[in-house]
Amino acid sequence: MLLNEMLGIKYPILQGAMSLITDGKFAATVSNAGGLGIIASGEWDKNRVREEIHIARSLTDKPFGLNLYMMSPYVEDIVDLIIEEKIPVVTTGAHSPEKYIKRFKEAGCKVFPVVASVTMAKRMERFGIDGVIAEGMESGGHVGEATTMSLLPQMVKALKVPVIAAGGIASGSQMTAALAMGAKGIQIGTILLASEECNVHENYKKAILKAHDNDTTVILKNTGAPVRVLKNRLARKYLEMEKNNSIDEEVLKDSFDALFRGIFQGDLENGSMPLGQIAGLIDEIKPVKEILNDIIRESVLAYDSLSDNINKLKEMK
Ligand SMILES: Cc1cc2nc3c(=O)[nH]c(=O)nc-3n(C[C@H](O)[C@H](O)[C@H](O)COP(=O)(O)O)c2cc1C
Repeated sequence: MLLNEMLGIKYPILQGAMSLITDGKFAATVSNAGGLGIIASGEWDKNRVREEIHIARSLTDKPFGLNLYMMSPYVEDIVDLIIEEKIPVVTTGAHSPEKYIKRFKEAGCKVFPVVASVTMAKRMERFGIDGVIAEGMESGGHVGEATTMSLLPQMVKALKVPVIAAGGIASGSQMTAALAMGAKGIQIGTILLASEECNVHENYKKAILKAHDNDTTVILKNTGAPVRVLKNRLARKYLEMEKNNSIDEEVLKDSFDALFRGIFQGDLENGSMPLGQIAGLIDEIKPVKEILNDIIRESVLAYDSLSDNINKLKEMK
């Protein structure tokens, strides 16, 4: 069964939660376009997240999800809110949500943790999750160590629950490849930053259009929460400090402010702009609906264009 059948949506595509960015309005836009929009609760408090849920409900009658950021100081409050508001799909980021899974399931929520390793995914499977979002280190935001290409088939082999592919996906041919490797759907983040409806600063969007394959880097590797960002002056400064072991509390506090400078003020040099490696493939700002429709259309074309090569493989038997 594909993800869209499991969730009652049009396309098997999840919008990756993006802290500070994917609010209720954006999640509703994605859900109305046929994917599953997901509100990122990030480090927002319960009142703010409740407001975003109500905004989403006022803008769509389609299902949408909520991402629980496990490093938030408000985790317990947001768990209560998810249950009170009966959110149909919960994704989780950064660390394991295992102690909350039973409560989510009792409340009727489907749970899809974002996971970067097979060991962690197998552990969560025992707690009764509905599926796993296998996220490779190509992705924007917090990252693990394995690439999507190697992580995905290993997750599919090791788990009984459905696996969703994430990290480095922005085209239909990649969706077809993910399905061929056993995924039941995909999650996309970076390409949705380059949508007309996304509320980030224009400079951030332009940086995505300008980016090449090697224009991102992973910073804060020694903090337990490494993050892939655009390689700019600030990122280079962090890398230098990591070499000298001089990342301290003050730097970490500024790394949060740096997100605001990058995402909303468009400070290309001294701001932080989380970005996936696939930015190099993105060369156009499009409406969300067109992004999703194009991925599905190209996915079918990619499959059709394979037939010649597959026929040749058949002859090799
Ligand atoms: C700006 C940004 C913020 C993100 N914030 C979160 C988050 O709060 N929670 C989470 O689970 N994942 C977060 N992610 C990961 C995305 O949800 C998604 O899995 C990832 O972007 C997919 O890879 P891609 O960027 O290559 O498409 C973030 C990614 C980006 C680019």
